[in-house]
Amino acid sequence: MGPNQVTRGTSCFLYWAMALVFSLSLGVNANLNYDYYKSSCPKVESIIYQEISKAYYKDNTVAPGILRLIFHDCFVRGCDASILLAGPNTERAAVQNIGLHGFEAIDAAKAAVEKACPGVVSCADILAYASRDTVKLTRGMGWKVPAGRKDGKVSLASDPPQNLPPATFTSAQLVSNFAAKGLSAKQMVDLSGSHTIGVTHCVQLRDRIFTVIDKTMPKSLLADLQKKCPTQATPTALVIDRYSVNKFDTAYFSNIASGYGLMTSDQDLYRDSKTRPYVVANLKQSTFDKNFANAMVAMTNIGVKLSLHEGEIRKRCQFVN
Ligand code: HEM
Repeated sequence: MGPNQVTRGTSCFLYWAMALVFSLSLGVNANLNYDYYKSSCPKVESIIYQEISKAYYKDNTVAPGILRLIFHDCFVRGCDASILLAGPNTERAAVQNIGLHGFEAIDAAKAAVEKACPGVVSCADILAYASRDTVKLTRGMGWKVPAGRKDGKVSLASDPPQNLPPATFTSAQLVSNFAAKGLSAKQMVDLSGSHTIGVTHCVQLRDRIFTVIDKTMPKSLLADLQKKCPTQATPTALVIDRYSVNKFDTAYFSNIASGYGLMTSDQDLYRDSKTRPYVVANLKQSTFDKNFANAMVAMTNIGVKLSLHEGEIRKRCQFVN
């Protein structure tokens, strides 16, 4: 073996090592792939974007609906579309998932994709593409979505309570909940930025305005919430980001930086000195855009099923084949 071969072999090794380190630093699972459907379903992303846009322009609550769906999917049995399975004892039936919505838009996207490329694209990947699209539609930044997930065959109502954090969690509790899924404290704060769109409900604020009064809450906010929520059971929807509920901007972070967060799980991110710097960093739009994109790629890697041995490509997202 001549010196050139050694050099070529070494540089080749270095190239692959650097590529691996780079993709790991982005949080990309080595087995998911940006070009996964390049030849098998080249138009998959535009088909999904078209269907999600159609649904969004009919009803813009579809955007927060889908964005929350992927969180509740990935934290329970990994990102395998188990949240989409319908039935009496499935994840959807758990208390934590009451009020989840956006299922019809995903079904419509799946039907359109099946027409173009039958049996090729998983519901788990459709959910990953669609959640990116909801951010684009609400004027946030997009990102490249690595694909190749298979759909799970199991969905149990007993799983969400053990995996999904409640709104009453403190920052420290959220950090350990996310750490159990392989996500950092910074990524937890970045992902919480999704609360820049969408709503919550009176019952989620029970620990701040009913059980005990949170004295750190600005008086005007407390008075407003007590008026809107005469009881915990009042079904009023409360916009989480009071400045720009339909816009994927940094107002969620400025709200909590000025004490106007609604749920404990929001406000405590700023109160806690360990997570506060991440909140402050996200006050800058370009930083938030980048952080959110990277954290979403990391979250949508959780527990992915990569082979047909582990999962399947569902024909319809609500049912196993
Ligand atoms: C950090 C831990 C988190 C907690 C404790 C939490 C909790 C909640 C709660 C209680 C609601 C209100 C549900 C309702 O009353 O209808 C909500 C809404 C929402 N969450 Fe989170 N969440 C967290 C993280 C996330 C993440 C990581 C995402 C997505 C990446 C997300 C996306 C959303 C969206 C978009 C909404 C609005 C839903 C709608 O308007 O229908 N959340 N969250």
